[in-house]
Amino acid sequence: MTANPTPVPASAVERRERAVRAAVEQGLIGPEQPVVGLLDVTGIRAAAAELRAAFDEVTAPGTPVLHAFAVKAAALVPVLRLLTDEGLGCEVASPGELALARAAGADPGRIVLDSPAKTHAELREALDLGIAVNADNPQELARLDALVGAVPTRSPLGLRVNPQVGGGSIGALSTATETSKFGVALRDVGARDWVVRAFAERPWLTRLHAHVGSQGCPLELMAAGVRAAYELAEEINQTVGRRQIDTLDIGGGLPVNFTSDEVTPSYHEYARLLKTTVPGLLDGRYGLVTEFGRSLLAKSGVVLARVEYAKWAGGRPIAVTHAGAQLATRTVFAPTSWPLRVATYDANGRPKRTGPDGPVTQDIAGPCCFAGDLVAENRALPELAAGDLVGLLDTGAYYFSNHFAYNSLPRPGVYGFAPGDDGVRFAEVRKPQTMAEIVAESGGAEAEGLTAL
Ligand SMILES: Cc1ncc(COP(=O)(O)O)c(C=O)c1O
Repeated sequence: MTANPTPVPASAVERRERAVRAAVEQGLIGPEQPVVGLLDVTGIRAAAAELRAAFDEVTAPGTPVLHAFAVKAAALVPVLRLLTDEGLGCEVASPGELALARAAGADPGRIVLDSPAKTHAELREALDLGIAVNADNPQELARLDALVGAVPTRSPLGLRVNPQVGGGSIGALSTATETSKFGVALRDVGARDWVVRAFAERPWLTRLHAHVGSQGCPLELMAAGVRAAYELAEEINQTVGRRQIDTLDIGGGLPVNFTSDEVTPSYHEYARLLKTTVPGLLDGRYGLVTEFGRSLLAKSGVVLARVEYAKWAGGRPIAVTHAGAQLATRTVFAPTSWPLRVATYDANGRPKRTGPDGPVTQDIAGPCCFAGDLVAENRALPELAAGDLVGLLDTGAYYFSNHFAYNSLPRPGVYGFAPGDDGVRFAEVRKPQTMAEIVAESGGAEAEGLTAL
């Protein structure tokens, strides 16, 4: 899968190291704010540019291509605005994500709604706004039938299919298995004929959508899913005798390398594989929608946390930090699927060197009150001391904005960074959550609610 890794410009690592130092110097992290999220704006812009270039290279001139960022990967309005500025749209999967996309100023014509449990009201709102909708199942299509007759709309409407091409290495994120909950399971008995008929009966249904999985899926599996959707589109268009399906939404899912700073696989690699696996998709007869999330943001994010205490148990050192399950939820609960690299820094934000006796095998723990709250176990690292910092690398996607409210730990502040003339400049993406906000969202205003019953 990683034939030609794209070497990361040395500057990506340098930018991160400078930002860590500057975050300490500028007081973004310290005893009062012991954990923070940092986003490399230069890196995000570069990823978006690479995505555009990769598909420009393989599509016929003039092909309409919408890269809709999967908002779930970084549900932060300034991030969505940045990506909009880079020419991307938004893929949303809930009313909240739609509200964020709109708050970021995304053009409704560049928003795609994909959730598997859309209510009638959500569908109606989407059609009112002219947002593209991918129906998940026959019952949802029946709701659209009723709405399409009643509401004048510009929304492009499509159907999600599950090509059932198989799963990747992470079962929970594999959406093209035999029994995945998403879309119409194409290989089930009678399903393909039903889909062809559904399009023939609905001239307004013009898109097919397939998303094979997210992280852990080999590129070949993703391409096989796209090919299955393309072949179905061809069959439908042949059956109805016109080019009714004009756009294929091929989902996201480009895996991210969590083991080094190399950006691999690259968008170019995937786009070129699509060109050889599904050439007809890219010859200009179809518009394209993509929905990448993780691959656009992951490499540009770092969670930086203070070591509050360095202790020992059973002969093993444990660094107790402020980044645990509240931020790195998947890593803590499913560590083999979601291992993270841990960078170590001293209290001034300078990389820690290994001592003369070599690295020390230690656990990196979080602040949550359960024993399994470890972001790394038995990891060989420079020995950590209280006041040092750890950086959880490649955490720009699905970490900052997927907070787990266990122990009522606050959501940390998130800051974007970019090089400036006199050092590193930071911009606030999200303020750290305050204690007052935690109390308010935990029923603070209803303190008497139960006793008054
Ligand atoms: C329908 C859909 N599109 C896109 C994505 C984004 O996937 P990724 O972040 O792996 O690119 C997801 C992730 O769950 C998804 O469910």
